[in-house]
Amino acid sequence: MSRKYTITAALPYTNGPIHIGHLAGVYIPADIYARYKRLTGNDVAFICGSDEHGVPITIKAKKEGVTPQDIVNKYHAIIKQSFEDFGITFDNYSRTSAKIHHETASAFFKTLNDNNQFIEETSKQLYDAEANQFLADRFIIGTCPKCGNEESYGDQCENCGTSHNATDLINPKSAITGNVPSLKETKHWFLPLDKHEDFLKQWILKDHKKDWKSNVYGQCKSWIDDGLRPRAVTRDLDWGIPVPAPGGEGKVLYVWFDAPIGYISATKEWAKREGKDWKPYWKDKNTKLLHFIGKDNIVFHCIIFPAMLKAEGSYILPDNVPANEFLNLEGNKLSTSKNWAVWLHEYLKDFPDQQDVLRYALTANAPETKDNDFTWKDFQARNNNELVAIFGNFINRVVVLTNKYYNGVVPESSDFSILDEETLKTLSAYPEVIASSLERYRFREAGQALMNLARLGNKYLADEEPWKVIKQDEIRTKTIMFVALQIASALATLSEPFLPFSSAKLKTILGFKNLASPLNWKDISAKNILLPTGHQIGNAELLFSKIEDHQIQAQLDKLEASRKINEAEDKTTTPQKDMITFDDFTKLDLRVGTIIEAKKMPKAKKLLVLKVDTGIDVRTIVSGIAGSFTAEDVIGKQVTVLVNLAPRTLRGVESEGMILMTASEDGKLVFVNPDASTSLNTVANGLPIS
Ligand code: 2FM
Ligand code: ZN
Repeated sequence: MSRKYTITAALPYTNGPIHIGHLAGVYIPADIYARYKRLTGNDVAFICGSDEHGVPITIKAKKEGVTPQDIVNKYHAIIKQSFEDFGITFDNYSRTSAKIHHETASAFFKTLNDNNQFIEETSKQLYDAEANQFLADRFIIGTCPKCGNEESYGDQCENCGTSHNATDLINPKSAITGNVPSLKETKHWFLPLDKHEDFLKQWILKDHKKDWKSNVYGQCKSWIDDGLRPRAVTRDLDWGIPVPAPGGEGKVLYVWFDAPIGYISATKEWAKREGKDWKPYWKDKNTKLLHFIGKDNIVFHCIIFPAMLKAEGSYILPDNVPANEFLNLEGNKLSTSKNWAVWLHEYLKDFPDQQDVLRYALTANAPETKDNDFTWKDFQARNNNELVAIFGNFINRVVVLTNKYYNGVVPESSDFSILDEETLKTLSAYPEVIASSLERYRFREAGQALMNLARLGNKYLADEEPWKVIKQDEIRTKTIMFVALQIASALATLSEPFLPFSSAKLKTILGFKNLASPLNWKDISAKNILLPTGHQIGNAELLFSKIEDHQIQAQLDKLEASRKINEAEDKTTTPQKDMITFDDFTKLDLRVGTIIEAKKMPKAKKLLVLKVDTGIDVRTIVSGIAGSFTAEDVIGKQVTVLVNLAPRTLRGVESEGMILMTASEDGKLVFVNPDASTSLNTVANGLPIS
């Protein structure tokens, strides 16, 4: 049945080029799916664009001494080009700085605001007095209250994926000045996710329990089980979409509020250009909305954006959110800052016209159910042993022999043998086999099924040996070549979503343009004959070529150079901080205390809640040492306590002081013991003081 599909692929942040991790996680599966849906006769809007707001872009602009607009202009062009180069067939690649997006996102916010779907609240938020600005999202770094990652951002921890409020961070630090922030009152608009909890429970945990991928379902369940809280959807920043409400002056929409609306504005932009109506793609209940994303985007696409759409009331909700896990590179996490990546524009310089090889290797190794590793050796093997030795070899033999024996004209077949019949029957099942994997978002499996079709062709030729048969039986040879040509034409059609460049080349070689009607996906099963007798094909041309060891070594050498630079950088010790005066020092009131009670903070891996007898009083101190000590280990311990530190609330518990800790040479946390001396870097509450 033909239907409308709105297929979105995560809008990439426009603060750097894109690498293989982006392609493998999001854009290749999304493109395979969109192409497959088009080929099977559906009405597809495949939508993406640049995510041009948010703090990382302003940080990058500051660093480079240019404007955020300069940054997004530069990377929008580079990213767009990479997508085109790799055959990603977006119907529209837009950008969130576009006027249509500003208007759409503003209108969306206004509708929710007018319908009282927000809570407006003045609360204390983290503020950097030196930089004279509030610290939202990536402007603040601290310890994740959930997993203890010491480099969590204000809105999301990249280690465990948790999305939180900046004030939840333990020991927050300004990413601009390194200062410990103060708290300052400011007004914001909050989306009360708690009010949507019942709907989300029903919609995700019941309605989509079976059809969403288990990694997606599992993350959603854990967030819902933890309890949903209101989320601020505005920020005190100057780069973004101005808050369209009284009191919103100087504030912008949170990037994760405006970015997913970017899917809607990009659809509008496309529809306008094509003379279509955008609304059925977002408002018709029969339309299937699918979001292709990486796992760090799950909460935003499965919980926050659906809650926004539901609150607005007139939109459909995603039917599925096929999120992938992460791709690693040669055993390490892909990292832009460490230059541990394969950049798409660089790949094309080293492997010109070999986009399909990367598409194929990344599909074969896609991180569908767990993080996966990309290795250059595997890339080489996928090319040499599969694309060249199986797919390319089969096609080459068919085309060369057809040209040699019949001047490129498809011969007449006579009676089929049992093997011919079986082979053609197996061939006709392939569209369904591949489709069934794709419908379940199993792209690796689908890619392997395609290669199995090439294997079928190779084996058929190897078993039938037309180059020998021709010496005794010309009639039988014609039938063999006829069957082989049917397999080749099925491969040309079914490979299009996976290997679009090679598929196009193969269609040219096989003279598809001379066919009375173009072959589509369903014809492979429905038609008995794909390439008719008498059809003229073209000359042989290599679809794939061998990748040599020295090419792989050159890539490994590049990575090795990055590794050496990173190692050297990691070794540099943290420089001494700015001098403080003696007066500053005397402000610290340090006392010897005894831990008299200790228990683990629920749902916080690194936190202990301690009762400490300071000699003045018994007080509660929350300490981030649970990664190194159990509660039992520390009861009775004498510790050094900074008692005149302003109290802070951590996960709802007020912490009244700080226990001084230090790190031993092997990096282990130890107490700054009142009766032992140490000259190591002091850390407080288990985390370095900054
Ligand atoms: O993680 C990212 O790269 C985000 N820029 C994805 C945004 S997806 C969407 F909602 F727009
Ligand atoms: Zn975390």
